[in-house]
Amino acid sequence: MSKFLLINKKILRFNKKISVSGDKSLSIRWVLLASQAIGKSKGYNLLMSEDVLAALEAVKKLGIKVKVQKNHCEIHGNGVNGFKYKKNLILNARNSGTLGRLILGLLIKSPQKIKLIGDKSLSTRDFSRITLPLEKFGANFNYKTKNRLPLTILGSQSTKGIKYLENKGSAQCKSSVMFAALNASGTTSIKAKKSRNHTELLFKYLKIPIQIKKTKKYDFISVKQPKKIKAFNYQIPGDISSSAFFMVLTTLADNSELLIKNVNINPSRTGIIIILKKMGAKILLKNKRNYRGEKIADILIKSSSKIKAINCPPELNSSAIDEFLVIFLVAAKAKGISYFKDVSELNQKESPRLNWGSKILNMMGVKTELTKNSIKIYGQPNLKIKRLITIRNYLKDHRIFMMSTIAALTCGGRWIIHDKDSINTSFPSFLKIINKISNKSL
Ligand code: S3P
Repeated sequence: MSKFLLINKKILRFNKKISVSGDKSLSIRWVLLASQAIGKSKGYNLLMSEDVLAALEAVKKLGIKVKVQKNHCEIHGNGVNGFKYKKNLILNARNSGTLGRLILGLLIKSPQKIKLIGDKSLSTRDFSRITLPLEKFGANFNYKTKNRLPLTILGSQSTKGIKYLENKGSAQCKSSVMFAALNASGTTSIKAKKSRNHTELLFKYLKIPIQIKKTKKYDFISVKQPKKIKAFNYQIPGDISSSAFFMVLTTLADNSELLIKNVNINPSRTGIIIILKKMGAKILLKNKRNYRGEKIADILIKSSSKIKAINCPPELNSSAIDEFLVIFLVAAKAKGISYFKDVSELNQKESPRLNWGSKILNMMGVKTELTKNSIKIYGQPNLKIKRLITIRNYLKDHRIFMMSTIAALTCGGRWIIHDKDSINTSFPSFLKIINKISNKSL
């Protein structure tokens, strides 16, 4: 298989029905929580991407039995703090910030040192945001390079609940502390800026003692150590972050229509829908239903010929945090100047995405004004790219690859996009679905 993707034609009109693979956040949370339950849990439609495989590998190394079956995955948990492992254990979170940060929450009692490593991209990302609160529980951390992987964790046998202020709107930080609370005596109280709430919904479903009070900006969450967690089966819904690429593809294509089946539309994740609609996209949610606290729907998208700029309300940032690259692409084709502020967190992702988003738009001939935490995008409704655009050296950020593919298919030009295998992180079937939609083979 070639290592790069070459696209030199725009997509022709289409009318298709697709489904996307299972949600990444829920897949990783299911693996980690099933490892803390007693007995056999089954996960259906688990995302089989590198991030989730790394999670399965990690819990296996921690002594948990894992079986990947044809249409589901089984995890035989030993209960909370039931990990059994040998000395000098090394866990590899590979590319996954979610795995790396959440699993540390489950290790605050580890009686032996465990080393956590990651790939090149993950090793550039900040871990102090999670080791600082976990130290308050009593865990000990050591870094070779300040606040970057690799690190070692040595737990404590007298872990106590903490008070924690999560002020970045990071679900990874919030969830890691919630996982640690499973292993701490007393109550852990969290004041958290709004972010995705899958962990809260799973805790509720699993009858883990949790209380939540919501205000406009913050959620006040308190978690008590559970007596035990019962094994549980879970059907993972489709990933809205994967769906986002196709929402934008359809919005920017000519006269096309797409139905995406079974997508998780948890309100803490639907910023992409709200933002695209404000920009003039045609999106309809059909067949809405509930599943264990999560909301699911089929999403119908139609092309839109009138896209307008947006002054994006920052309170939507966290619910669209993984979707900004494709939102920037829509802004590039919008009438007017779009403005996104308080988005510095984007530079903390698998690559510095705020900078990369701006760079790719500039390569496309679109003007941007970039600061450390904001971007202005000067939209061009009649944008037609003629030049050759080469995308490389982007730390294999899966979402940069997919954004570039959508840009190539909707804005024209000749694109060479390197590191095709980057999609394996979150969405291995991405190109297969593109081929299905376009009736072509990329
Ligand atoms: C995630 C939270 C987000 C998101 C990431 C997945 C999660 O990160 O970007 O892809 O599953 O909790 P932050 O919590 O760091 O914003």
